[in-house]
Amino acid sequence: MIGGGQLARMTHQAAIGLGQSLRILAVSLSDPAAQVCPDVVLGTHDSIDDLRRVAHGAHAVTFDHEGTPTEHLLVLQEEGVAVYPPPQALVYAQDKLAMRRRLRELGAPVPEFAEITAVGDVDEFWQALDERYGAKAAMVLKAIRGGYDGRGVWLPDTLDEARAVAAQQLDGGVPLLAERRVDLARELSAMVARSPFGQGAAWPVVETVQRNGQCAVVIAPATGLSDEVAQRAESLALGLSRELGVVGVMAVELFESVDGELIVNELAMRPHNSGHWSMDGCVTSQFEQHLRAVLDYPLGDTAARAPVTVMANILGAPTAPEMSMDERLHHLMARMPDAKVHLYGKAERPDRKVGHINIVGGPTGDRVGGPTGASGCDFDDYVAAVRERAELAAHWMATAEWTDGWSEHG
Ligand SMILES: Nc1ncnc2c1ncn2[C@@H]1O[C@H](COP(=O)(O)OP(=O)(O)OP(=O)(O)O)[C@@H](O)[C@H]1O
Ligand SMILES: [Mg+2]
Repeated sequence: MIGGGQLARMTHQAAIGLGQSLRILAVSLSDPAAQVCPDVVLGTHDSIDDLRRVAHGAHAVTFDHEGTPTEHLLVLQEEGVAVYPPPQALVYAQDKLAMRRRLRELGAPVPEFAEITAVGDVDEFWQALDERYGAKAAMVLKAIRGGYDGRGVWLPDTLDEARAVAAQQLDGGVPLLAERRVDLARELSAMVARSPFGQGAAWPVVETVQRNGQCAVVIAPATGLSDEVAQRAESLALGLSRELGVVGVMAVELFESVDGELIVNELAMRPHNSGHWSMDGCVTSQFEQHLRAVLDYPLGDTAARAPVTVMANILGAPTAPEMSMDERLHHLMARMPDAKVHLYGKAERPDRKVGHINIVGGPTGDRVGGPTGASGCDFDDYVAAVRERAELAAHWMATAEWTDGWSEHG
C-alpha cells in the first residue's frame, strides 16, 4: 500500500485476519501504519524507485491516498505490477476536472462546472450561473488536484471574493475549477467495491455530516432515505465503478439537494472516512473488502449489523488537553462499554483526524444502552440517541470534556 496513514493502518489490521501482511511505503517510521506493520519501505510516492522497491514481489499495489503520479503508475503497470485501482481509473479520483468531464460524458448527475485558467473565467461562469439561477446562484472554487478534508475548496460569497481567491490560487500555480454551489439538504456517500473478476458489492448508503469542510459524523444507513433513492445511489455507484474500471473500494460522495436530487460531488478510490462505520457496524468492513477486491477474492457480505451505526471522528482540539489520550480512553471505557474506539497513533493538532468512535445501535432499535441511554423510543429518537453518544465520546476523546456535564466522580 502506497502511504502510511490511518487507512493503511486499518487495512493492515484487516489483512492480518486474511493471513496477509501489508507492506507499506511510508515517509517515516512514525506514520500511523509504520507503527504497526513489520514490512515498511521508507520513501515517497513521488519517486519511481521507491515505488518499484515497495511493489517488488507484492501481489498487488494499492493506495491509502490519491497522490501518486499517474506516469509512475503507468510505468509500474508496464513492468507487470498489478496496480489496483488502475491508474486509468484512479485519475478520476485525483483530478476533479477530469472527473467532472468523465461523469458528464457518462450521464451521471454533476453540478455545472467550468475550468478556470484566468480570473476572467470566474466572471464568465458567475454570469452564466446568475442568468440561470438568479438570486440562488452561488459558486464553489476548487483546486483540481491535491485537496483533502476541505483544503482546496473555497465558498466565496461575492464575485469579488471569488475573483480574489482565483487570482491568488492561479498566481500560486494551483489549477482551478468552478462549480455551482448546490443547495444542500444533506450529504450522502454510496460505497461500493469491485474486483478484477468483475464482482461488485454495495454497502448501505450513509449520511455524512461535515464541519469546517471535513467529515465529522457518519450515520449509517442514512435515515429517511426512500428505497427508490437508496437504490438509485447504489446503482449509480456500482455503474460508475464498472464504467471507470475501478478495482478496490470506491466512495461516491453525493449531495442530496433541497429539491431531492442526487448529485455527485467526488469519487474516492480507497477506503474512505464514510466507510469507517463498517468496521463495527457491518458484516464485512471496507478495509477487508478492499483487500478482497485487490487480491481478487470473492467479496464479503455488506449487510449492516444493526438498524443504525454512528461514526464520529476524533478531531484534534484547539489545544490538546493535559489529560493523556490513554487516560481519556480509560474514562470513556468506564462510561460507555459499548463504544468502539479506533486510534491512529497520530499527534494531536487542531482539527486533525486522530481516531474515530463507532457506536453500533442495539439490534432491535429499542436498546440504546449506557448511562445516558433512553429506551422504548421511536426510531428517530433511537438514532438521535446513538448519534449523541458517538459525538459525546468523540468530543471527550478530543478535549477531555463531556459536553453533557457528566462527571466521572459525580
Ligand atoms: N458544489 C458544491 N456545492 C455545495 N457544497 C459543496 C460543493 N462542493 C463542495 N462542497 C462542500 O465542501 C466539502 C468539501 O468538498 P470536496 O469533497 O470537493 O473537497 P475535499 O477536500 O476533496 O473533500 P474530502 O473531505 O472528501 O477530502 C463538501 O463535502 C461540501 O460540504
Ligand atoms: Mg469530499
